[in-house]
Amino acid sequence: REQLDQYKERLLQLKKERNAIILAHYYMRGEVQEVADYIGDSFGLAQKAKDTDADVILFCGVHFMAESAKILNPNKIVLMPDERSGCPMADMVTGDGLRKLKAEHPNATVVAYVNTSAEVKAETDICCTSSNALKVINSVESDEIIWVPDKNLGHYVSQFTDKKMIIWQGYCNTHDLLTPEEVLALKAEYPDAPIVVHPECRPEVVALGDYVGSTTGILKYCRESNFENYIVATEEGVRYMLEKESPEKTFHFASRYMVCPNMKVHNVKKMVRALETMQPQIEVDPEVAEKARRSLDRMLEIVP
Ligand code: 13P
Ligand code: SF4
Repeated sequence: REQLDQYKERLLQLKKERNAIILAHYYMRGEVQEVADYIGDSFGLAQKAKDTDADVILFCGVHFMAESAKILNPNKIVLMPDERSGCPMADMVTGDGLRKLKAEHPNATVVAYVNTSAEVKAETDICCTSSNALKVINSVESDEIIWVPDKNLGHYVSQFTDKKMIIWQGYCNTHDLLTPEEVLALKAEYPDAPIVVHPECRPEVVALGDYVGSTTGILKYCRESNFENYIVATEEGVRYMLEKESPEKTFHFASRYMVCPNMKVHNVKKMVRALETMQPQIEVDPEVAEKARRSLDRMLEIVP
């Protein structure tokens, strides 16, 4: 604890010296959320990255998020505390794979979840996150959509649109492992508790949700409703903010295995090191970034 306090003090000092901002996803360890300037879901983080006037962005999230921050800010330095923080779902679709699918469906509009590489975003017409996916789908003119990479979020939004969706078969290892049986077992224990679900979960789990939405949506729902107990079907890092915002409520996580290991590699010690050494920096090929920026900018116009 004492050492952690020392790191935190040093971090504050370095932040001033570098004119840096710390952006963190809700799945970060508590110690990272404690020192962040802004904590958000993937939409909020992209929005904040676009708005900041800091010179340096220290991004505590997975690689595609930091990459998006760099795409939106080609002239700023974007650092990650630990570069090994990838997203397996984002790796499930490649630029080549998407180009092949586009060739098979030349009239389709490509909508990509932000959980994708810069190369895939460069091949995309418009990005979305789980918070604005349906609005994005309904904002495009075409009746045919190529959707990458999350099959579960794709299935969820397809229920609310008449458009034909060609859905890539990617998924999030962390959310997809949850079964309806696990959720129902908790429901039997807490029959009055609402079930709140992230749409990256399987369709059978999402179907049980009293509320389905992005991380920010889940937090808002739990903050603004009045139950004693909640059954939460998403990554465990959200507990930190749920309990901070509603200390009087009890949150039962549907599975103790819903931990995204990629999000947990960051810590305050590595944050200090990144600002000290100004490494590792996130770089994106300028030509790819230019194209990817268009699909991200289009998304940012569609506020959840
Ligand atoms: P949101 O932060 O948009 O809810 O997405 C969750 C997620 O899995 C991020 O990788
Ligand atoms: Fe990727 Fe899933 Fe981790 Fe989000 S929770 S970063 S989608 S692996």
